[in-house]
Amino acid sequence: MKIAVFAGDGIGQEVTAQALRVLEALPLPLSFLTGDVGGMAYKKHGHPLPPETLTVARECDAILFGAVGDPDCDNLARDLRPEQAILGLRSAMGLFANLRPAKMFPGLEGASALRPEVASAIDLLIVRELNGDVYFGEKGMRTTDAGLREGYDIMSYDESEVRRIAIAGFEAAQKRRGMLCSVDKANVLETSQLWRDVVIETAAGFPDVKLTHMLVDNAAMQLVRNPGQFDVVVTGNLFGDILSDQASMCVGSIGLLASASLGERKTAHGTFGLYEPIHGSAPDIAGKGIANPLATILSAAELLRHSLGQEEQAARVEQAVAKVLADGIFGADLGGDADTATIGDAVLARL
Ligand code: NAD
Ligand code: IPM
Ligand code: MN
Repeated sequence: MKIAVFAGDGIGQEVTAQALRVLEALPLPLSFLTGDVGGMAYKKHGHPLPPETLTVARECDAILFGAVGDPDCDNLARDLRPEQAILGLRSAMGLFANLRPAKMFPGLEGASALRPEVASAIDLLIVRELNGDVYFGEKGMRTTDAGLREGYDIMSYDESEVRRIAIAGFEAAQKRRGMLCSVDKANVLETSQLWRDVVIETAAGFPDVKLTHMLVDNAAMQLVRNPGQFDVVVTGNLFGDILSDQASMCVGSIGLLASASLGERKTAHGTFGLYEPIHGSAPDIAGKGIANPLATILSAAELLRHSLGQEEQAARVEQAVAKVLADGIFGADLGGDADTATIGDAVLARL
């Protein structure tokens, strides 16, 4: 079982090191290949996603990804910026379905930005489309007839893109509590009107799933008013990006939310995927050794589950993480003083 490890920039390096320790401790025949991505890859190879990194990705069953993003690179041409590494991998590997679970851990109710009784009901999954939307449409800078600078980014989805992510949403709901909430902005956007129409058409194949629709502004509000109402949320690339960061703080910290990005490519024991925390390179705390590695460790658990078919080991890792939190071992993001390595040690001890 071959895993590509792309740690990237900033705290990406720090959190990935802890997730690797966890994977290495499991009784599995894993081999690890590394690759450069992001600002560090640009500085070394002149490109955030060098061809040799893509080659490594294609040779493996899964990718464990840290984070990319480097303030030194924020003024580069867009196609050379660190973020293009993750966007490029998602696109090149056809990873269109991004699963971002958010669940309250027992013992963390007090760390949520919400009241404990509201937060304790959180058990939701955001299914975010990852290969389209305003992220991948035509974009640029131009000058208007009046001589003003104008930036533009085209938002679009074709029906096949919506259908495949809708199916992913319905299938996820079938495995959970049978509820799917599709989030869009159909009252204003044509892209969202097509989204809604196609989701409704797709629902015919899933009579066992209860489908609802919600406008994204209301969804942002409902996520803090009553997050317990959501089971699976299916939404576009941009809305899913924003709502998932918001969901993280409902649970307690962005340092806790994992993700799996999946497509159609199969491995010997499951589906090829890229696994990463939902957070970024956190330049404000990079190098201090205080980042919370749990989101990346939980991403490694998703990797075991979806790409390697190792449900038992995945559950073991998740239980060890839950135990660390139940035991009150918190990093600075949760109001505690455990550093990155101490949290990694604590997970290993509980495995
Ligand atoms: P960020 O997620 O990196 O950080 C936001 C805030 O959360 C910061 O205050 C940070 O210190 C904190 N935080 C994030 N992860 C944490 C963790 N594990 N433990 C403790 N605290 C944590 O978002 P940002 O600051 O908006 O972006 C920084 C850079 O990361 C940008 O270049 C951005 O493009 C990039 N980014 C990359 C990814 C990715 O690689 N998938 C995701 C998001 C942002
Ligand atoms: C994420 C990040 C990325 C996104 C950026 C870094 C391109 O915010 O994975 O959530 O917007 O998808
Ligand atoms: Mn994001």
